[in-house]
Amino acid sequence: MTQQFCPTPRELDDLELLVTGALAPLAGFDEPGSPVTLARPDGADGVVELVDPEGLPLATVAPDGSVTPLAHTQFGPFRRLYLTPAQTREAYAGATFVPVSGPLTTGQVDQLARLGHVVLLALVGTGTPEDMSKVGLIRATLAAADLLPEAHVVAVALASREDPDADHALGVQVVGNFAGNDPVVALADDQSDFPASIGAILDVERPAPDSQGLVLFFTGLSGSGKSTLAQALMDRILEQGSRSVTSLDGDVVRRNLSAGLTFSKADRETNIRRIGWVAAEISRHGGVAVCSPIAPFDETRQQVRAMVEEAGGAFFLIHVATPLEECERRDRKGLYAKARRGEIPEFTGISSPYEEPQDAAVRVDTTGRSIGAALDDVLTSLSSAGHLHLAQESHNSTVSQ
Ligand code: ADX
Repeated sequence: MTQQFCPTPRELDDLELLVTGALAPLAGFDEPGSPVTLARPDGADGVVELVDPEGLPLATVAPDGSVTPLAHTQFGPFRRLYLTPAQTREAYAGATFVPVSGPLTTGQVDQLARLGHVVLLALVGTGTPEDMSKVGLIRATLAAADLLPEAHVVAVALASREDPDADHALGVQVVGNFAGNDPVVALADDQSDFPASIGAILDVERPAPDSQGLVLFFTGLSGSGKSTLAQALMDRILEQGSRSVTSLDGDVVRRNLSAGLTFSKADRETNIRRIGWVAAEISRHGGVAVCSPIAPFDETRQQVRAMVEEAGGAFFLIHVATPLEECERRDRKGLYAKARRGEIPEFTGISSPYEEPQDAAVRVDTTGRSIGAALDDVLTSLSSAGHLHLAQESHNSTVSQ
């Protein structure tokens, strides 16, 4: 049976360019020396079927990398602008072709205004542009076209990869295939301001840190004070009233979203990825998600960071670094005692590892400190990162007994 899998976003972009002839003379994956590669799952050495994230079969790929298309992607914002090179050449023969990988400045718009009929090729593959969404770059490019005497926009799913030289060479090849025999002009380097219509799009695309979606992710041992601190922080945000907040507390998530999962490594990873997925969606909408699971594994925390950043949110990691001895001394739920007696297997810190984060924005040890004092450390670093400006108050209550 043909093995099916959903390739990475970069590979999906490459597939689209391969089947539309945009990468010609490349016609398949893994041609000798080509950076257009396909990572197959273990054992998938025969013919494979590539499906999109919703499971729609897009193409089959033979062992030698050659591609047979089955269906084209039909949905997604501005799909109608993703023309093939042949369609582009037919519709816009005689134009000047301009690759666009960022929002156009006033100076660049002036440069293009002198060129007459132009086709703006918005390069919107995975990994590019750095600080704008694909849709944002297309909207900004359409806004630029509106300022020009005769301009059209074509979207090109040209992904970037690790190697800048390979990127450059592929870019030249792809742009050349869209332009055919017509001239290609590069945008001048220009530091002028953005036209107002493009600036307005950038304001939405690049929100100031205090209105950007935000994931506040507390990690630490059971009993370290994560939930207490997270709850205190939530209360402050709610009291201030300018942001909408959702709590994704470790124990609460385990009773709802992750009911039925165990504490095996695989289930913990699933649990954290679920939290990350929901938190990323919250951040996509500009909200604040306050998460407080143990999240003992560095790799899973990194995956959450990537999911959030991909959704346009900021990921703020708080390591509640209360030492094991103190957590065990508190033992509010009596779980450490049970774990020591062997009644709870794979207990974090006792019989299952906790990987200390090296990438936390702030580290707080709650030993012998009040909630207010520990919270102030978090508030100070949040404020200096520009995310949330919450008043600091002194509190007298302690984190835990
Ligand atoms: S995580 O490892 O998947 O991030 P999570 O934060 O959801 O853990 O759940 C931790 C909570 O589950 C702890 O606060 C504790 O109350 C409870 N718990 C039950 N069994 C274990 C275990 N084996 N290890 C850690 N916590 C456990």
